[in-house]
Amino acid sequence: ALAGKYLWRLTYGSALIGLGYLAYGIYEDRHPVDQRPSDPSKKTLVILGSGWGSVSLLKKIDTENYNVVVISPRNFFLFTPLLPACTTGTIEHRSIMEPLRNILRHKSTAVTFYEAECTEIDPVKRVLTLRDNSEIKGDMAETSLPFDYLVIGVGAQNTTFGIPGVQENACFLKEIADAQKIRTRIMDCIETATFKDQTEDERKRLLHMVVVGGGPTGVEFAGELQDFFQEDLRKWVPEIADEFHVSLVEALPNVLPMFSKQLISYTEKTFKDEKIDIHTKTMVKKVNEKTIFAEVTKADGTKEMIEMPYGLLVWATGNAPRAVVRDLMTKIPSQAKARRGLEVNDYLVVNGTEGIWALGDCAATKYAPTAQVATQQGQYLARLFNTMAKTQALEEDIARLEELGHSTASVDDKKSIASEIEAKAKILRRSKRLMPFQYTHQGSLAYIGSDKAIADLTFGAGNNLASSGQLTYLFWRSVYVSMCFSTRNKMLVVMDWLKVKMFGRDVSRE
Ligand code: FAD
Ligand code: NAI
Repeated sequence: ALAGKYLWRLTYGSALIGLGYLAYGIYEDRHPVDQRPSDPSKKTLVILGSGWGSVSLLKKIDTENYNVVVISPRNFFLFTPLLPACTTGTIEHRSIMEPLRNILRHKSTAVTFYEAECTEIDPVKRVLTLRDNSEIKGDMAETSLPFDYLVIGVGAQNTTFGIPGVQENACFLKEIADAQKIRTRIMDCIETATFKDQTEDERKRLLHMVVVGGGPTGVEFAGELQDFFQEDLRKWVPEIADEFHVSLVEALPNVLPMFSKQLISYTEKTFKDEKIDIHTKTMVKKVNEKTIFAEVTKADGTKEMIEMPYGLLVWATGNAPRAVVRDLMTKIPSQAKARRGLEVNDYLVVNGTEGIWALGDCAATKYAPTAQVATQQGQYLARLFNTMAKTQALEEDIARLEELGHSTASVDDKKSIASEIEAKAKILRRSKRLMPFQYTHQGSLAYIGSDKAIADLTFGAGNNLASSGQLTYLFWRSVYVSMCFSTRNKMLVVMDWLKVKMFGRDVSRE
């Protein structure tokens, strides 16, 4: 009875602490702090992008030390891991967007933000060209901005490998607008398929949803789409129940090459049970408005061209560098061989430049282009900039003390100045010893549909744990909710999940 009493108290106490923490989070998010104005006489540090890398840098950097300017065509941070869920309305898009203004207003010293695309980087003159590419433009829509330090965190764009017809006919899945377009197209295909007197072949084509690319983006989207069909569409539109189907096309012999064998088999089996067709060893070569042309490698090694009529095509075959990055690569001789992105050294400095760093998907490193890597790189650069500022202040202090030491005649004063210099020099030596960037992999997680997820977790010194199924799905959910940017995001995501459980997904076409 005594144990029960204490357990009850413990639960009650924890709940109160949890509620207090939540309330504090809401309060903190709601009221921006008073800020010191930015100081243009300080060194100008320009940060390009408002994604995982740049925002993690912004969160940790002490903005008092620099005149920080952020440039991005997107005035918000996007929590990409939950983007596939926006394509079917499991999560509403605004639940995973966090306004950049909110992030910047919480810094101790003000940060300048320009909503613009950086179209050109001149690494020699140290000037950027910016263009307002939003719908509404003022008299000034293009200008330049000089910088002392530059961090490039512009991410990557979708690769099409130049395959004919992809750019014109496929949907991609990288930005909010992509998810909205897919959501609209799914419903458009369904409503068109059920149009009066629609032919059978056309109905079948329109209800065939094809995903190209068996990496995590393609797999997660295929899983979400099949959930939408199983849980809602077949109930709202029963006439499509026998014909709606999802296919996943992958050029390699299996999907999810970055996961362990056991999890690959689990995913392939789950997809089979859920009636998602996986076409491996199938490389798409051409696409037109209604058909995909792909080359299949058969078991005996021979190749065959097949045609796949489709209603919706989602293209998820990985990343390619953005135009501004490609242009910069051509301006730096030591980047001549770079293909995947800007080559950087161990400190993330762009090879062949000074005072220019790159992080996240736009940098070509030995790590996979993931949010995990970009976040850790952002945190590393924040430490680097904070240390650089500290180092500079110490150097100035030492120079001032040395001057004072020279000008003073008293032997005692000289001695005490010398010991002060020595103490500062010691701290300076320590802070100059910044280690190169080192990535700590915490594991990979992916949702594969039907309330199942897979996880390849890393803990300790290289220990791995592969886990899959519905418990892993609960783990996946709790990890991603806890990782959402703000308390507001966390609450909105949880409410979206509850809403879908209670009312089902919304099938109206916007
Ligand atoms: P991004 O986050 O893409 O940010 C780039 C920023 O640069 C954006 O703000 C963009 O608007 C801005 N920008 C673009 N062009 C310019 C320009 N010319 N000038 C200035 N700014 C510019 N990774 C994981 O680790 N786990 C996951 O579960 C996961 N899920 C994903 C799901 C999906 C659907 C996708 C597409 C990716 C997922 N990723 C995941 C990968 C992860 O999102 C990326 O690796 C990560 O976003 C890279 O961060 P970044 O800062 O380099 O670029
Ligand atoms: P990816 O590069 O991981 O996978 C693309 C797949 O497309 C490859 O397997 C490739 O073989 C296939 N492909 C290429 N050309 C093809 C063709 N013509 N026909 C058929 N198949 C073709 O790309 P993805 O999934 O967009 O991921 C990009 C990055 O984002 C990766 O680093 C990934 O790890 C990360 N990411 C991580 C997630 C997670 O951890 N849950 C979720 C989504 C993305």
